[in-house]
Amino acid sequence: MIFFKMPRLAIGRRTASLPIVQGGMGVGISLSGLAAAVARRGGVGVIAANGIGMIEPDYYADGRAANIRAMRSELRKAREKSSGLIGVNIMVAANDFQQLLDVCIEEKADALFMGAGLPIKNIPVARIRAAGIAVVPIVSSGRAADLIFKYWAKAYADVPDAVVVEGPLAGGHLGFRAEKLQDADQQLEVLVPQVIAALAPFAAAFRRKIPVIAAGGIYDGADILRFLKLGAQGVQMATRFVATDECDADRRFKEAYVACRPGDIGIIKSPVGLPGRAIRNPFLENAAAGVRNVKRCAWRCLEQCDIRHADYCISVALDNARQGLLDQGFAFCGANAHRVDKIVPVAELLDSLKQEYESAFVQSLVTLKDDSIQAIERKFAGLRHDYAQARQHLLCLRREAEKAWETRRESLREDYERALRLAEKFKAEYDVALKKLNDLKVRFPEKLAELQAIARRFPAEPLPIPAR
Ligand SMILES: Cc1cc2nc3c(=O)[nH]c(=O)nc-3n(C[C@H](O)[C@H](O)[C@H](O)COP(=O)(O)O)c2cc1C
Repeated sequence: MIFFKMPRLAIGRRTASLPIVQGGMGVGISLSGLAAAVARRGGVGVIAANGIGMIEPDYYADGRAANIRAMRSELRKAREKSSGLIGVNIMVAANDFQQLLDVCIEEKADALFMGAGLPIKNIPVARIRAAGIAVVPIVSSGRAADLIFKYWAKAYADVPDAVVVEGPLAGGHLGFRAEKLQDADQQLEVLVPQVIAALAPFAAAFRRKIPVIAAGGIYDGADILRFLKLGAQGVQMATRFVATDECDADRRFKEAYVACRPGDIGIIKSPVGLPGRAIRNPFLENAAAGVRNVKRCAWRCLEQCDIRHADYCISVALDNARQGLLDQGFAFCGANAHRVDKIVPVAELLDSLKQEYESAFVQSLVTLKDDSIQAIERKFAGLRHDYAQARQHLLCLRREAEKAWETRRESLREDYERALRLAEKFKAEYDVALKKLNDLKVRFPEKLAELQAIARRFPAEPLPIPAR
């Protein structure tokens, strides 16, 4: 059901008062600062686990340990700042996925958003459940959702609590081949109903609501309404949250969003083998031209990344950008980043999204009313046309009936005249017979009785002949 005010979003055991999830943004863009600000205002704040240890001084000495320490400390900081929903975005493909998962379980994050791979094998479901944590896979197709849920149902006799569907307009690494990004059947408006349909049998079998959260290119309140109308229960937004005071990136990173124009946003081939959307800059131009910019690999943080073949280390490039050193890295962004025109507090952003949602809702009612009036007018015009045709038909029928009556009247008159002629003939015969009888009465009185018997068969009066 769609409400005038933004509806709540229930994920697992907890409910956010707004249906807005702040998308996890790796390598230090969404840490406790942003996540807590969003959670405090009723959304779901998400800390990105990917490369989180890069904010620690000893990352290059021990990347794994730095990641774990930073993950724990950021979760605790977020908890101190907000009692709202705090989730963690973890890349399944990360080499320390299991260790990061352990920290999230120990720290009892509210939800685990798992992307960049299918969260199927070796998921400690029993421990996750015991800690009361919701699991939310991030997918880019109904097929992937079906695969994950089938696997979970079979292997764990359980299913995840919600699903994020990320379309091709999202920022960061994308779950589509670059040549498929524009395909009509890959657009978020198509994917959302597809994923809802894929989840329906699992929701029925496990008697659970499994909310679908739409992500990628959702920019304003009208977009939120549009996706809720398509059946999503919530939206995940990242690009808008970059341009907030509380976003954990350096101000120069945020200003790159404000400054960029549509032509500055492009698709890159990331060293991890996936396409990604980013703001083009000389660093990326050099990389595309084959200039290698690899100094070292701290530790192989991503299984599929091989520094020997990479033009640059993606974690280092993103970490530099996070610190505002955009000449030594680049900013990932969503397709709508060029629409960002100022940096605002999270509260202001959420308030404007709420207002836009509500006015889009009212506008949709007005449009509905106008559409209904137009539909009634169309129906009325149709009825008027049908009535005119029926009337025409009736007039034809009446004309035909009158014509038929004229023809019938003629034949009736002929019948009548024929009957009249017959009656006149009978009368003439009768008169002759009567005359003969009277003659006989005079001439044969002795035969009178006999004649009277015969005469009784005739009426006493002469037959009346109707006038012409
Ligand atoms: C700067 C940036 C970094 C991102 N990093 C991650 C990430 O580490 N993991 C992930 O699953 N998604 C990541 N994303 C994707 C977002 O979480 C989100 O789903 C997507 O960007 C939504 O589209 P929008 O930016 O148009 O709102 C990133 C997006 C941006 C803009």
